[in-house]
Order: sequence, then structure tokens, then C-alpha cells
Amino acid sequence: AFIVLENCIRCKYTDCVEVCPVDCFHEGPNFLTIDPDECIDCTLCEPECPAEAIVPEDDVPEDQVHMIELNAELARTWPVITARKDPPEDAEEWDGVEGKLQYLER
Ligand code: SF4
Ligand code: F3S
Repeated sequence: AFIVLENCIRCKYTDCVEVCPVDCFHEGPNFLTIDPDECIDCTLCEPECPAEAIVPEDDVPEDQVHMIELNAELARTWPVITARKDPPEDAEEWDGVEGKLQYLER
């Protein structure tokens, strides 16, 4: 499956959701996750993310392996999102900031 990494937190551009052929993105307050049971590894979403926050599971950086289980866990309870929406007003300021996991809202 493809995995949404920490850099999506507080950026949440949502460009990714429009291209997914199986609607496997799930939306939380300031982060999106991919349901690993639904993702068919089509690769379409990866280049769509302006924050470069989507990678195949095999390419998840060592310091973010916790995001694999977190995507699966949150996708179970968050609703599906299929239409793009405006990102947070300060999304650009948060792009690339380290250690954003502490800001994750559930
Ligand atoms: Fe959806 Fe394809 Fe991205 Fe998986 S790789 S989340 S199926 S767009
Ligand atoms: Fe997040 Fe990138 Fe999608 S910031 S909402 S993974 S386009």
C-alpha cells in the first residue's frame, strides 16, 4: 500500500484524493490516511501531493515507520474523502516542518 507521511499533517492539500481510483483516502481534522486494505498501488496519488507526503510502503523512511500502522488505524474510523477542498490557510508554512506528529488531531 501507499502511505501518507507526517508532512501531510497541517498541510492537507487534498490533491491526492481526486486521482484515487478506489477512493481509499480517509479524512481527519488535519491529516489524511490511506486504507491499506483498499489501496491497489496504482501510484497515481504520489506525484499529486505538493508536500511529497505520499510514498509506497517500501520507501517509508526509517524514522516514519510508525506511520504505516497509523494510516491503517485511522483509516478504520475516519470517513472517506473523494473531493478536493481548500487546504488550511497556513499550509505552506507547515510544509517541511519536522516533528509534526505532535500536532495530529484525531
Ligand atoms: Fe489510491 Fe492509487 Fe494512491 Fe493507492 S496508490 S491510495 S489506490 S491513488
Ligand atoms: Fe496530504 Fe498531500 Fe494529500 S498534503 S492531503 S497527502 S495532497
